[in-house]
This record gives sequence, C-alpha cells and structure tokens, in this order.
Amino acid sequence: MNIRFEKAPYTLKVKPEDSKLGFGKYFTDYMFLMNYDPEQGWHDARIVPYGPLSLDPSCTVFHYAQEMFEGLKAYRTADGNIQLFRPMKNIERMNNTNKRMCIPQVDPDDVLEAIKALVKVEKDWVPHSEGTSLYIRPFIFSTDCHLGVHPSKTYLFCIILSPVGSYYANGIAPVKIVVESEYVRAVRGGTGYAKVGGNYAASLIGQEKAEAMGYAQVLWLDGIEHKYIDEVGAMNVFFVIDNEVITPALDAGNILPGVTRDSCITWLKNNGYKVTERKLSIDEVLTAAKEGRLNEAFGSGTAAVISPIGELFDGVEHTIINNGEIGKVAQALYDNITGIQWGRVADTYGWVEPVCSAE
Ligand code: COI
Repeated sequence: MNIRFEKAPYTLKVKPEDSKLGFGKYFTDYMFLMNYDPEQGWHDARIVPYGPLSLDPSCTVFHYAQEMFEGLKAYRTADGNIQLFRPMKNIERMNNTNKRMCIPQVDPDDVLEAIKALVKVEKDWVPHSEGTSLYIRPFIFSTDCHLGVHPSKTYLFCIILSPVGSYYANGIAPVKIVVESEYVRAVRGGTGYAKVGGNYAASLIGQEKAEAMGYAQVLWLDGIEHKYIDEVGAMNVFFVIDNEVITPALDAGNILPGVTRDSCITWLKNNGYKVTERKLSIDEVLTAAKEGRLNEAFGSGTAAVISPIGELFDGVEHTIINNGEIGKVAQALYDNITGIQWGRVADTYGWVEPVCSAE
C-alpha cells in the first residue's frame, strides 16, 4: 500500500508526563486516514497532522451510527524496541464487525501496515514508565450525506493514537462492580459481539447509574432471561469458583470476543489451570460466594488489561471477593500477559509483532 505522508507545518506538541497520562486524554501529532468509495475501493492512504475532521451535518454516521472501532496497544520494551500485541486478532475482529455493520472489508495486511507506519512515525510518543503504552484506536464510519436508512456507499477509515497509563484511576487495585438489573447491553441477533459505538452508547445509562452509586462499572446480564453473565462495561469477565476459571461462552453472539480474553484462556490452559467457557448465571456466582467457593473474579481487556473485581453489588447484597484483594490467578495473568507485551517474559506464543527500534 502506498501511504502518503503530510508533514505538520507547525511545532509538534509537548508530550505529557507519564504520571499524568490516565486513559485517552492526550493524542499524538499525526493520524492515519483512508477513504472508501465503490469505484476505487479503499484508497488515498495518508498520514496527516492530527486534527478535526470536517463533516456534512447529514453524514449518515450522525443519524444511524454506521461505524465500528478497535483498540490495541504499542509497547516500549526494555531492550529498546516498539512492539504490538496480536494485532491480527484485532484486524480479524474488525472485519467481523464490518460484516455485521455492512461496512466494506479491509485488507488485513494493509491495516497492519497502516498501524505500523503510524506508530513508527509517532514512536517517541510510546511512553516509558511501567504500566504505560500507546493506545491505538482504528475506526471506520459512514460518510454518505442523506437521511435515507441504507448502508453508506462511502467511508472514512481513521487511526488515532493516545499515550495511556491505567484505564482505572487506581491502576491494578480491585474495582467495585454493580450488577445491572434494569437495562441490557446486547440481545441475541444484535451487535453484542461486534465492536461498535452503539453497544457502548446503550451501556452509558447503566454506567452513569453505577458511577452515581460509587461503582467503577456495570456487570451486564443477558438480554433474554436477565440471568446469565455477559461482560463488564469495558472488559470481559472471569470468575474462579472451586479453583476452576470460568468465563461466559461466546456462542450466543452477545459478548465481545476480547483479544485479552483469548490470551488469558490460552495462557491459563498452557499453565495447567482448568478453564471453562460456558453459561454462568449471577445466582451461581453469588451462591458460590456465600458458600466460600468463589476464589476470585477479574476483568480482561486491552484498555483495562487485567482488572481484579473486589466487590459485586446486586442491588441487595454487597459481595466482597477475595477480601477485596487481587487474587493469584489475576496476578499471574497480569504478570505474564503484560510481561510478554513489555518484552519481560519470553513470547512462546508468537503474539508479539515488532514495529521498529525505539531509537
Ligand atoms: C479496549 O479495551 O480497547 C476497549 O475498546 C474498551 C473501551 C475503552 C471501550
């Protein structure tokens, strides 16, 4: 793919201190753009100065939300390299989402090339401190200008970059989660498995309720019986019951197939843990907790990495998990998955994708 580079005609931004990063607050100097139309397919790949996009108010994305996004990270290793973690898994998921949203397929090799090219240009933005990384946010949206409800014929593909620290303000400290009893995030046949803004828009009301009650996120239950666990706001979820690691199965199509989720399952199975993907009801979890059989719970996600859950509130009872402390399984996953990402643990899975030297 031919990627045009347009140099910024002004002085570049001052980079924030690593200690101030948080999540998704700062953006780098450049972004990647590429257009789609039926005549030319994906075309005009370019890296241009980061800045506002000019869009017609009738642009269909504003009205009918035909869009998708992804999230992955670039890491700076101790031996001076910049690397990605399983980018092809994100790109594969991107095309699965595109299919559901009637967005044209992208060429996986072209997308990987675009991500690498942009990260290479912005390599000085990959932060240095432990626990930090450069978050990569590819997204595609419809750009036709009309009010009819049809798939758009034209699209814009963008990649923006944001240096990040922890997703949660308290880092890897256990989070408090509230079980959502009123709203649902996804239904069978819907878009739950796809990475689309609409899923997150539907979740905001629950998130707002949770935050008002002093909780970090919502535990979503299935949209039919309101009984089975789906996922947490920005993460997949795992429960350790009687030393068996259980996570909701993907087959109902209402759970995001997380890259970190898949990495956790693979690492655990390879390291002798019993891991089961199945339907798991909230009652089973709360009963196990009452009987002292719920060993730990944690979320997984690109942004959140591994996030222990210290408390579950179902609207009646407050269930404290593992004394509100990080459990052994979550700690082992955190150490090993982030170890591979930051180049401290040997990558025996072929998960790391080198980008360039940090020099
Ligand atoms: C991610 O983990 O990359 C996500 O996209 C979750 C969230 C920030 C929406």
